[in-house]
Amino acid sequence: ILKFEGHYHGWGDEGLVGYAPPPGQWGTEDDPTRLHPSKGVIPEVLNTFVVARWNDPAHLRQRVAEHHDQIAAIIFEPVLCNTGCMPAVAGMLETIRELCDENGIVMIADETITGFRFGAGCAQSYYGFTPDLTILGKAIGGGVPFAALVGKEKMFAKIMSGEVVHAGTLNANPLCLSAAKWCLDEVIALGDKHPASMIALGEQLMAGLSKLAAQHDIPLQPQGPGLVFHATMLKPGAPAGPITNYRDYALRQDAPRWAHLRRCLLEEGVRAIERGLWFISLAHTQADIDEALQRAAPAFARHAAEWKAPC
Ligand SMILES: Cc1ncc(COP(=O)(O)O)c(C=O)c1O
Repeated sequence: ILKFEGHYHGWGDEGLVGYAPPPGQWGTEDDPTRLHPSKGVIPEVLNTFVVARWNDPAHLRQRVAEHHDQIAAIIFEPVLCNTGCMPAVAGMLETIRELCDENGIVMIADETITGFRFGAGCAQSYYGFTPDLTILGKAIGGGVPFAALVGKEKMFAKIMSGEVVHAGTLNANPLCLSAAKWCLDEVIALGDKHPASMIALGEQLMAGLSKLAAQHDIPLQPQGPGLVFHATMLKPGAPAGPITNYRDYALRQDAPRWAHLRRCLLEEGVRAIERGLWFISLAHTQADIDEALQRAAPAFARHAAEWKAPC
């Protein structure tokens, strides 16, 4: 399986190979390491993965060529949301599809975060690509624990024939299926309004946070497609501008300074996620965005007055 640095595919042994190795341990540009962040992982699991850097189509071509005829699948988050927030650069999704078609590789889109946030057709419809398999979770359940694996019929032939076992205590749970059906009916009924309304609210929040940051000379840089975005606190001297891969993110993100601003926000009643990601949901309204920015203003002022970089 080929996966990308910084992409998260669940906490099981396979999902976190090459997830977020610390600087110094991430291997070369050409050959990213297969490090796993958890102890207790069966070493053989690591050997079944090839890791590539995200958002570098030429590098991806190289990785596939190096492991010719050995790669069964390429798995990816269509918008990387687990280490920063990085949409695919031009040509990235097209290159994955092309390489999969040319080499008989299964293209797996992990839409656990992006699924149904980007409208009824998920990120694949929004960005215009067609994977062979799609992983769905989170929004599909409308608040209940539910996940699904969907895709082209031929991908399921061995499950249907029983050659591949797909059993489970929680499979097809009636309560979760009812909630998911209700949720998806709502999403479909929204039509073109979704995700446009969420994107508009998210962009307002991003612009408001950027304005507060500029007012207080705080190097905070929100980036992402609006309905989800990451506010990166830049390290002293780190250049501003788009962050497109995990290494760049790890080098530029000032985690202690973000933790301080986050604490100030929390004390004003705005709970930002620890890793700096912000989500807009269909429940959010204009009043929520206005209130969040109103509350954020004193938090930014306090952070600017109190923050001292550790010596
Ligand atoms: C892209 C992605 N895939 C899969 C998962 C599922 O992860 P877990 O197994 O930790 O619930 C997540 C959870 O956040 C995710 O963001």
